[in-house]
Amino acid sequence: MKMTVLYHSQTGHTKEMAEAVVRGMALVEGARPKAFSLEDYDENWVRESRCVVMGTPIYMASVSGKVKAWLEGPALKCALAGKLGGAFATADYVHGGGELGIRTILDHMMTMGMLAYSGGSAYGKPIIHLGPVAVSGQLSSYQETFQLYGKRMALKAMELWKNQPL
Ligand SMILES: Cc1cc2nc3c(=O)[nH]c(=O)nc-3n(C[C@H](O)[C@H](O)[C@H](O)COP(=O)(O)O)c2cc1C
Repeated sequence: MKMTVLYHSQTGHTKEMAEAVVRGMALVEGARPKAFSLEDYDENWVRESRCVVMGTPIYMASVSGKVKAWLEGPALKCALAGKLGGAFATADYVHGGGELGIRTILDHMMTMGMLAYSGGSAYGKPIIHLGPVAVSGQLSSYQETFQLYGKRMALKAMELWKNQPL
């Protein structure tokens, strides 16, 4: 089953965490995850993915302008309705707006008819309510949580559509 992790990353932090999410997804049998920059992605791969996760750097306590512009434009060509959607962020500060950015992405996803998901508290600790946020000065300490998040997203997609790849 194809899965997509899309990110915007100016200085590499969000890309690094997107790769951690992909590594976690790849732990699930049958999952075929790929990470793409918003500036260079395979539209067909996204369209054929059952699960699409988006990563944003936090700008001014919200998503970056590039992420918002993508959600309001090119996203509409990616047949996102009905797919499992999730979001994550990187930010310089714990209280820098990470969860607001995640909510903004999830709101857009739901508006497009996606099924917003994170795993919440269903898998126990670490609890990830809306989506994971990594603080830029400590990225290595968030690797495990982001991998777990990817695994949880992939497990849910497989549970929903195991024998129905797009
Ligand atoms: C224009 C701009 C605005 C930013 N605003 C915030 C902010 O409000 N809160 C925060 O915690 N970090 C903020 N940051 C820091 C970035 O979110 C952080 O460095 C992020 O990890 C960058 O991701 P990237 O390396 O993938 O581009 C801002 C950075 C830029 C360039």
